[in-house]
Amino acid sequence: MTAEPLVIGLAGFGTVGGGLVRLLEENAELIRSRAGRDIVVKRILVRDTAKPRPLVPPSNTELTADPAALTDDPQIDAIVELIGGIRQARALIDKGLDKGKHIVTANKALLAEQGSALFEKAETSKLMLRFEAAVAGAVPIVQTLKESMSGNRIISLLGILNGTSNYILSEMTSNGLDFEVALKQAQELGYAEADPTLDIDGYDAAHKLILLIRLAYGVSYPYADLPVRGIRGLAAMDIKLAGEFGYSIKLIGEAREVRDISGRTRLEAGVFPALVLNRYLLGKVNGVYNAVRLEANAAGSLFFHGRGAGALPTAGAVLSDLVAVARGERADNSGFARLSLPEAAVLPQDDGRSSFYVRLTVEDRPGVLRDLAGAMAAEAVSVAQMIQKSGQGNIVPLVFMTHETTSRAMKYSLQRMTDAGLLTEPAVCYRVL
Ligand code: NAP
Ligand code: HSE
Repeated sequence: MTAEPLVIGLAGFGTVGGGLVRLLEENAELIRSRAGRDIVVKRILVRDTAKPRPLVPPSNTELTADPAALTDDPQIDAIVELIGGIRQARALIDKGLDKGKHIVTANKALLAEQGSALFEKAETSKLMLRFEAAVAGAVPIVQTLKESMSGNRIISLLGILNGTSNYILSEMTSNGLDFEVALKQAQELGYAEADPTLDIDGYDAAHKLILLIRLAYGVSYPYADLPVRGIRGLAAMDIKLAGEFGYSIKLIGEAREVRDISGRTRLEAGVFPALVLNRYLLGKVNGVYNAVRLEANAAGSLFFHGRGAGALPTAGAVLSDLVAVARGERADNSGFARLSLPEAAVLPQDDGRSSFYVRLTVEDRPGVLRDLAGAMAAEAVSVAQMIQKSGQGNIVPLVFMTHETTSRAMKYSLQRMTDAGLLTEPAVCYRVL
């Protein structure tokens, strides 16, 4: 081995940073044979150097709390950003790029919200800014979209993009666990974000979807414009009722090309809980697993599946980026030849089409079914299936599955029911895939 090692500054020694240090040691021989050189960690940036840690840093690696010890060291070739968050991570990456360092990051929040400026800076400086671990953990979807799918037009992409939410939903479905207990387990297993509301409220999946849209369509979709709904407050009763129709409830991120009413191509995208048929591959994705289904004009359907979070699965994805840096690959950060990407032409949310699951809580009296059906008929919403369950006293849940309609028609028919005083509780409504 004659080549100089790739020297890295690792920012973050938590779940993923710790996993990376383990994997660099465990796979050292493999890395050498694939990259033709070693990868060594010179410094590790943490918040608190005195904190007791489960893992000992490698020999000759020092812990520091000073970001300049990474960015300003001329011996460091690349910075691996695994501290998370926006402000300090942005400052570190900005400064690292200014100082000519390649960047590897798993920080989807930063890239989704402020990535455009960083990608431009990296592109202009011909530096690598790689982020395989930022989307779907171990699932190699970033490089796949950038390279393997570059000969295909992506018609749609659909996925389970948040391991924590999927873990919670699976535990609630299969083991009858309470939401809070399942969340605590996901945190203990190292799946959840430092702020787990990002997972539960759908924003982590939204960050990942923004990155997938960028890679698949070569456009920048403004993060603030993406419709996002998470799994907070999802009732065990809806999981059970969905099961009776043969469905599971999953947190879905979706983007697809559609025509608007004037025939122009638009991007319809969003994050939302949805009913997925148990017999579909997507319906079988449980626990911390993530999945992405692509529909492409040449390839047809493709399905990718794997662990979406956790120390080693995520570290493996980070390491693949580091091997690319060590090999001296060309900086192709967005997968498109433009320096800056144009803004996406977005379909208004109300124009989106879907079937819906609707649970209505009503008084069990003659004519109520007629009135509910009337509210839907008035908006041209057609019912496909319906069940009535026994409730408490004369208050009962009624569940409708609709045929495909627009979000606008569904919203207005629920409004009609509310205005007519038909509902004793707010309606519960989820899309059906
Ligand atoms: P984590 O376990 O909370 O570890 C964060 C590490 O960063 C800690 O070592 C912490 O230092 C350090 N740190 C945080 N803020 C810092 C600051 N301002 N200055 C210096 N050091 C700082 O986080 P994680 O789960 O490894 O996640 C790291 C990143 O990977 C995040 O962007 C996350 O979204 C992403 N990610 C995580 C997973 C996963 O499964 N966990 C999967 C994919 C992507 P101390 O140790 O001193 O506190
Ligand atoms: N908190 C994230 C998840 C980590 O649960 O999917 C992986 O990005």
